Amino acid sequence: MHRWADTKEHLSQWLIQRAPFNLTDGVWLRNITPTGPITDTEGLLFAIYADELGNGDYKQNHCNVFVDIIRSLGIELPPVRSRAFVDLKCILESSFTKPVYTLASSLWSQTFFPEILGQTLWLEWNSPPEHAPAAKALEKWGLNPTFSILHTAIDNVVNGHGRYALNAIHNYLSEIDAREGHKAMQEHWLRIWTGYTACKLNVIEFRITVPGCVSPACRCAFLLTMYMSVW
Ligand SMILES: [Fe+2]
Ligand SMILES: [Fe+2]
Repeated sequence: MHRWADTKEHLSQWLIQRAPFNLTDGVWLRNITPTGPITDTEGLLFAIYADELGNGDYKQNHCNVFVDIIRSLGIELPPVRSRAFVDLKCILESSFTKPVYTLASSLWSQTFFPEILGQTLWLEWNSPPEHAPAAKALEKWGLNPTFSILHTAIDNVVNGHGRYALNAIHNYLSEIDAREGHKAMQEHWLRIWTGYTACKLNVIEFRITVPGCVSPACRCAFLLTMYMSVW
């Protein structure tokens, strides 16, 4: 069992610190498709986003499923789009760094399209390895494991979001190769890789930062980028 699930209190704390990210699940793709005709690549990314939102079924909305776990702890969090949420003292400043990154990058989806492809690959491929043990820990401590069970399944790399992300990258690079040539394709691959590693490093920072080491600006940026719209 992982240390973050040594006791029910450890697991509860881990869940609370995940709230800013899990309550904005899928946000990095919120502006991924323009109005009008879309490409194969955009279609795959939108399919991931639609799943994160629950495909029209509010009970399947990933954020709603996470709210259910928090409620099972006897905690009622304020709405994620509120000042009260970002002012919560029980959530560490460092817990806002990862969602601020996904919120901010989503504001420039067309400008950073290749980087967002890389970010999607990292997020989806790293989800099942995180959620498989989390589901066991939630079950062990009598908490609702649905959020983690659903992510272990839907993000899988065989035919789930992990595969969608990989296929989207292959499609995108083929489109660039056909339209702009091999050199351009290599440049776009480098940008995809940059997005992948930037996301990975951001998460590492999330894990090792201690209270007070990250600027309080993260809370402010979280709320601002929730409402900003840039195209
Ligand atoms: Fe999700
Ligand atoms: Fe996903």
